[in-house]
Amino acid sequence: MIVMGLVLAIETSCDETAAAVVDFNYNVLSNIVASQVEYHRKFGGVVPEIASRKHVENINFVVDSALEKAGVSFSDIDVFASTKGPGLIGALLVGMATAKSYALVYRKPLIFVDHIEAHIWSNFLDGKKPKLPAITLVVSGGHTSFYLLDENRNLMSIGETIDDAVGEAFDKVAKILNLPYPGGPEIEKIARESKNPVEFVRPYLDSGDLNFSFSGLKTAVLYYLRKNPDAKKEDVAAGFQNSVIDVLVQKTEQAIRKYRANSVLLAGGVIANSAIRNAFIEFSKKEGVEVSFPQFQYCTDNAAMVGARAVDSFLAGKIGSFSEPAYSTVRPTKRV
Ligand code: KG4
Ligand code: ZN
Repeated sequence: MIVMGLVLAIETSCDETAAAVVDFNYNVLSNIVASQVEYHRKFGGVVPEIASRKHVENINFVVDSALEKAGVSFSDIDVFASTKGPGLIGALLVGMATAKSYALVYRKPLIFVDHIEAHIWSNFLDGKKPKLPAITLVVSGGHTSFYLLDENRNLMSIGETIDDAVGEAFDKVAKILNLPYPGGPEIEKIARESKNPVEFVRPYLDSGDLNFSFSGLKTAVLYYLRKNPDAKKEDVAAGFQNSVIDVLVQKTEQAIRKYRANSVLLAGGVIANSAIRNAFIEFSKKEGVEVSFPQFQYCTDNAAMVGARAVDSFLAGKIGSFSEPAYSTVRPTKRV
């Protein structure tokens, strides 16, 4: 059965003010992102109070731009959606209050979406149909987690980092190397120049479970630089990146074996990294397992992915309430 309809989705969980119009078949009609990165850069990280204020300044303009780009008006929208967590509470409240206001004024249903789930649903956008059950790996600034996504699109947690997320490790190593914030793309850029990558540990590979640990790797980089102050930045960056790639790919291989999944879905800001994407393309060829990536613009925070998740929630009748609170930390997902 094809159900027609349009979602206006909003994302304000961190430092991107984003709005998108997505149809009920997950086609993206518009995807607008206003980045605040220039306001946070001088502090070396996201300042929550600045993020909230900038969301308030930008949200109406961003929503209007999303509607204009999609060629629709408020009265064409069937569902209003926003992210409810995890994220910065003040930042989340701006998006939630905006979605609530539109739902109230236009008398349309309201849907609230989990940010991690939205990252995973970015793999369904624009006609992509990954095979399920799938191992999903979310690698972003705040999260590094494995989930099993079953045929009915239910998520079960099967592993996570016990300390730093991969994006956080990229950003911290970039800081150690005096690279600008956000560090992930900077590490990727200079690592390309390396001819002699440093060999770092492959942390937690033999832990016997599907959890990760990246804080020791960051410390290994710090100690290496103390001992070798003249080391080339690009060799350190490439060595760090190689270690992360090896751990992500090999743990994914372990997960596929354990759960006999049909495919791998990758999601989150760190998946914008071409070296990581290429390593998974190689893995896919070698193991004969389908690997799905979101398009680049849907890897880092955006509202199109929120729209995709909202479509399924709406069709399943999970309508949000006007008293729904935001939450800051990851919600417990059934663990297997
Ligand atoms: O998903 P995202 O936009 O926000 C969160 O939900 O956390 O991810 C942001 C993270 C940052 O840590 C950033 O450094 C990292 O993704 N990132 C990258 C790349 N682009 C963004 N890390 C490595 N290589 C990249 N090209
Ligand atoms: Zn994110």
